Amino acid sequence: MIICHCNVIDSDQIRSAVRQALGEMPAHAITPAHVYARCETAPNCGGCQLMIRHVIDSVVAETGAGGNVVTPNQAVNSPLRESA
Ligand code: FES
Repeated sequence: MIICHCNVIDSDQIRSAVRQALGEMPAHAITPAHVYARCETAPNCGGCQLMIRHVIDSVVAETGAGGNVVTPNQAVNSPLRESA
């Protein structure tokens, strides 16, 4: 599925970029900017950044690389937030 229409980056490319980044930096440090760089491009409209953030969070959760670190997106969607 194409995530970034400006640069024609699909979810598999983003997932691959995140897995590569996980080998070099902590999970919480990975941003959409890292994904663009690893795909050898740059944001244009920026409309895909939230979706890229979701893919990053998904890969981090699947790999368990995040440990106890809660990404900003996970914190916003946390059930704990609703009970507070
Ligand atoms: S959709 Fe990704 S920069 Fe526009």
